[in-house]
Amino acid sequence: MGVDKQNMKRVLKDFPQQVMDAIRIGEEAKISRLNFNSIVFCGMGGSAIGGDIMASLVKSVPVSVLRSYDIPEWVGEDTLAFVVSYSGNTEETLSAYKKLKKSGADIICITSGGKLTEDKPPLTVRIPSGFQPRCAIGYLFFPAFMVLRKLGVVDFDIDELLSKLTDMSRNQDNEDSVAFTLASKLVGRFPIIYAASPLEPVARRWQAQFNENSKVLAHINIFPELNHNEMVGFGSPEIDNLVIILRDPEYNPRIQKRIEITKGIISRYTSGIEEIYTEGDSLLTRLFSLMYIGDWASYHLAIKRGVDPTPVERIAYLKEKLASGGDSY
Ligand code: F6R
Repeated sequence: MGVDKQNMKRVLKDFPQQVMDAIRIGEEAKISRLNFNSIVFCGMGGSAIGGDIMASLVKSVPVSVLRSYDIPEWVGEDTLAFVVSYSGNTEETLSAYKKLKKSGADIICITSGGKLTEDKPPLTVRIPSGFQPRCAIGYLFFPAFMVLRKLGVVDFDIDELLSKLTDMSRNQDNEDSVAFTLASKLVGRFPIIYAASPLEPVARRWQAQFNENSKVLAHINIFPELNHNEMVGFGSPEIDNLVIILRDPEYNPRIQKRIEITKGIISRYTSGIEEIYTEGDSLLTRLFSLMYIGDWASYHLAIKRGVDPTPVERIAYLKEKLASGGDSY
């Protein structure tokens, strides 16, 4: 097990089973017909990213992800709100929850326990405890997905996703896997991750996983916006960087062309450009397959750097400091 003292490798390998279990939990959620014309997700970090993924998948209703203490004034009786906190104790999320209750929105909480459940919210989907929140992304995302599926908001092929993840889980720790090879190239280099719609949430997840698992800084930006500013800054300061372009065959053809031209412009200022493609047919599978590669790459980078991928001591320390003093939020 070495530096991986809490066996993140096992959690990663078991991810397809986690997704299956999360789907079952979501199917069992008792949801009545709801009327809404907007959806919000309130959460932070590993609990919020599922909201971003949902925003990429849902086409018929606006989906906003709220990552702070407050909620916008437009949130009200016509809003369906998912309050997502793995621990149930994250203060920004608890604060947003309080405000949601006053807004008249329909609220569905997804949590493993904590203060959020002490309030006994009428609609709570309980998920298993014992994971790091970011490692429970299946549990944090799929119950909401199944609820929205029941409500007719999303419809994707779950069987394709499960068989793709199961397939992938068999070889992600091999030394010739994309994730392992990428991690080898990243040792001592600054990851610059680029993507375009609909893969923004995957880029964000990759960044957070490099931060929290590998304990390194990482940077992301999005096509085509980066063509209008960021690429001009390449080369200064001189940082040994590796550019990772997350690619999807269904990107807008103009985006595909931009990527090709951009590679030519920036190639002399980087140690390399790695292009990692989504796998699968449905957008759901494409998003999760690429996310899964990032989870593994960040794990391998942690091991190569000799750091334990699981604990995030600085996050725990900050939360503890904020909680001391008993002030309200
Ligand atoms: C830790 C992690 C963090 C937490 C975040 C919010 O693994 O992913 O980003 O998700 O600090 O905490 P929870 O998810 O408990 O609301």
